Amino acid sequence: MTRKSVLCVVGARPNYMKIAPILAAMTGSALQGRLVHTGQHYDKAMNDDFFADLNIPEPEANLGVGSGSHAQQTADVMMRFEPVLDANRPDCVLVVGDVNSTLACALVSVKKGIPVVHVEAGLRSHDRAMPEEINRVLTDQISDLLFTTEKDALANLTREGIDPKRVHFVGNVMIDSLLWNLKRAVPAQETLNGFAPQGFGLVTLHRPSNVDDPVVLARLFKTLAEISKDLPLAFPIHPRTKAQAERLGLLDGMGHIRFMPPLGYLNLLGLLKESRLVLTDSGGLQEESTALGVACLTLRENTERPVTISEGTNRLVGNDPGRILAAFHDVMQKGGKRGRVPDLWDGQAATRIVSVLSGWLGACA
Ligand code: UD1
Repeated sequence: MTRKSVLCVVGARPNYMKIAPILAAMTGSALQGRLVHTGQHYDKAMNDDFFADLNIPEPEANLGVGSGSHAQQTADVMMRFEPVLDANRPDCVLVVGDVNSTLACALVSVKKGIPVVHVEAGLRSHDRAMPEEINRVLTDQISDLLFTTEKDALANLTREGIDPKRVHFVGNVMIDSLLWNLKRAVPAQETLNGFAPQGFGLVTLHRPSNVDDPVVLARLFKTLAEISKDLPLAFPIHPRTKAQAERLGLLDGMGHIRFMPPLGYLNLLGLLKESRLVLTDSGGLQEESTALGVACLTLRENTERPVTISEGTNRLVGNDPGRILAAFHDVMQKGGKRGRVPDLWDGQAATRIVSVLSGWLGACA
């Protein structure tokens, strides 16, 4: 069997649940998946715990890039990725999502004439102040093969001049991970001890637009404290958010909010499954809550994942206290928005990717 070599890249937390099913689906296929980690995320809680929970194999190389400004981080990934690419000469490079590592590795590859495959292509928030939006637009422009998670993505890509023949709607690999691991989720009781199922809400916040401005963050924490009087909140806190909240003295006296370090994948899945509602600015949680039918209030003015609004349980509420509280009371009184699971979010996206990619690379069994 001639196997084609696919160099897969991960860098930051949201990449891990996307790459895990793809690597698993490549096992025993015509594709040989190999993994490189840029090291954009590095803490045990932001990295190692996810590798363990998701059974991701040890990367062949870790570039150890770490944190820095956008320019520093992106440039560092590019410089450290180039020799790895030269040493490996894969048949293609596969990148996922929209983090700085995604764009950096795609850019190095395309300039070396190595085809780039982008998983989760075509999502657009239409908000260029968001660093991820720049990464999405640019990665898609230089990708040879683009895999999309929802139908709106194709219209975004064709508007930007991308040949629809290169675009394949395959479903959502993050939902593959969710469905494959649902039975392994750690019961919420074990993480929260004392919160009853459906008797709590789950909060995550890490977007610069919510976290970096002290006024915005303080107002959000006050709103969450208000909500926690009616519904206790579990709040695994991202390092960016923790650092700012500590600087502002926001972690004490916040009502019934239970702060905790970032959680591993299976612990977070357990909380999500059993929560009454989710308050978040994460892209992943918007999709995961839609897949599980859990009400989601997104603390942003826009989303690059519109199917979670048009078909799922998601509502955009921004960061204005009045809007958030009104939406919260609506969920408490009426049970929240009902939704349906979007097309092809069925646990088979990675298998479709491997099948299309094998044909495209001319890999023969
Ligand atoms: C990055 C991604 C974002 C993703 C998020 C998930 C970009 C542009 N942003 O944002 O799309 O949703 O990851 O977490 O790629 N830190 C640690 N330990 C770590 C990693 C980070 O303490 O393992 C701290 C550092 O102080 C760092 C800060 O968190 O300065 C922010 O990390 P960074 O990777 O720059 O961005 P995120 O906000 O995590």
